[in-house]
Amino acid sequence: MENPATGFHKGLTSYGDAGFSYFLRQAFIKGGGFSDDALSRPVIGVLNTGSGYNPCHGNAPALLEAAKRGIMLAGGLPVDFPTISIHESFAHPTSMYLRNLMAMDTEEMVRAQPMDAVVMIGGCDKTVPAQLMGAASAGVPAIQLVTGSMLTGSHQGERVGACSDCRRFWGNFRAGTINEDEIQRVNNQLIASVGTCSVMGTASTMACVTEALGMTVPGGASPPAVTADRMRIAELSGTTAVAMAKNRLTPDKIMTPAAFENALRVLLAIGGSTNGLIHLTAIAGRLGIAIDLEALDQLGRTTPVLVDLKPSGKFYMEDFHHAGGLRSVLRELRPLLHLDALTVTGRTLGEELDAAPPAFPQEIVRKREQPIYAEGGLAVLRGNLAPGGAIIKQSAATASLLEHEGRAVVFENAEDLAKRVDDPALDVTADDILVLKRIGPIGAPGMPEAGYLPIPKKLARQGVKDMVRISDGRMSGTAMGTIVLHVTPESALGSPLAIVRSGDRIKLSVSQRSLTLLVSDAEIAARTAAWQQANPPAPAARGYRKLFLEHVTQADQGCDFDFLRAPKMTAVAPLKRGV
Ligand code: FES
Repeated sequence: MENPATGFHKGLTSYGDAGFSYFLRQAFIKGGGFSDDALSRPVIGVLNTGSGYNPCHGNAPALLEAAKRGIMLAGGLPVDFPTISIHESFAHPTSMYLRNLMAMDTEEMVRAQPMDAVVMIGGCDKTVPAQLMGAASAGVPAIQLVTGSMLTGSHQGERVGACSDCRRFWGNFRAGTINEDEIQRVNNQLIASVGTCSVMGTASTMACVTEALGMTVPGGASPPAVTADRMRIAELSGTTAVAMAKNRLTPDKIMTPAAFENALRVLLAIGGSTNGLIHLTAIAGRLGIAIDLEALDQLGRTTPVLVDLKPSGKFYMEDFHHAGGLRSVLRELRPLLHLDALTVTGRTLGEELDAAPPAFPQEIVRKREQPIYAEGGLAVLRGNLAPGGAIIKQSAATASLLEHEGRAVVFENAEDLAKRVDDPALDVTADDILVLKRIGPIGAPGMPEAGYLPIPKKLARQGVKDMVRISDGRMSGTAMGTIVLHVTPESALGSPLAIVRSGDRIKLSVSQRSLTLLVSDAEIAARTAAWQQANPPAPAARGYRKLFLEHVTQADQGCDFDFLRAPKMTAVAPLKRGV
């Protein structure tokens, strides 16, 4: 069989004459002063998502230089290129709305441009999943280089970091326990440097599950953004990418069902963000691997939460790094992992763990016998209110609310919530259950992180810190509370969530894994029929919004576009026991 084209011979532009196409390409790149020797090397793309609108990627220029150094040390030729970049706080209506666009951009540019491997610099919440989704579909050897977490700041002697503390201080401000002056002063301290959020939010979660998947170099998840360790990881990512190019180590060889089970196990053990599940589902879907929610729930029952990081615990990402990073977790989970799963180094997870530095006493990553929380961070709920499933992060919830029945207080959409939640006349008590509709993938659109409904001001001022809250939206990985998310199908489709009314009773039982609307089946059917009549489908808009609304899937399929998922699911993760 003929060897496939490599380097600048790959993917020639169509002029109808391959010889001329290469001649022209060579001429253009020589315009940059490259020698024939340089052009004969393995070409390693470096995907640069540095952007003035993305402070979480503020160290991208330094990472780019370090990755290029590593590529050249290993005899490759680095070529950097941009794609879009998404930051949580600078994307309207929500970063999730744009994740699939970034995944398409990544896939198409990695495929269209000549490269033998690619180093992908990402970090902020949606960027790493978008890049892994794109890389999985492009099929080119790829390695993830995360930007790393930001440093923590200090407010009046108290250590603070984004964004669990952002929410806590804002809650205090809403409750009137701190004033305007103090909330402005703390605002200066919450983001103490460039880099991703400093707790086990979505960015840190995705960094950890990506290392568990085998898609970063060992130890790649935890070094903070502004450290020498982070730069060394960047250099090593560059050298590793050259070897991956030579060995044609494509993403499908690394991201196998066993690797996804390892990643899901880690997601549970780190008390990771609920968003991690949606993203892993989307990445796996690109490779024809379905995530089985029931099997995940079973996995959760045998996976304790080991990492004492906010929002489930009390420390920050830089502490996690000093405690050995993800390798400390993997070492502890070792008997539960698939150690034969391949990593970007070409060695297995087990081999990498054998070669890792020895364990040492530390207090951030617990022993399995002394967990932070006995079961995994996430539980999967089912019931007549969520026929397609819903998620609760039990490790970040109030224990006394995990079994709760209450009266629904319903908000029809985000605007309705904003208008009424702080109204002193709102009929609400601490025992009620707050329900928010229309924040699902289609409803908002883009499934915003609005599932963390604020406690109504009049209750917050009485000292109420948590209530059961239910929605079809998502929650920031940095938030905490007894919050049921990703209710599927979403309310915009006329699902049972759409027909809940204030005054209905709802029962949450995390021990039974159930979410029940205590309304008769006949009444649900009658309300659903009336809803469908009153809400005919709206005509699609133009452009990307049209594409999004017509093709986005529900949370149980990762909210990917239907035409980007593999045409058929051929495998399942977590693996069926005994297989
Ligand atoms: Fe970028 Fe939190 S806002 S990681």
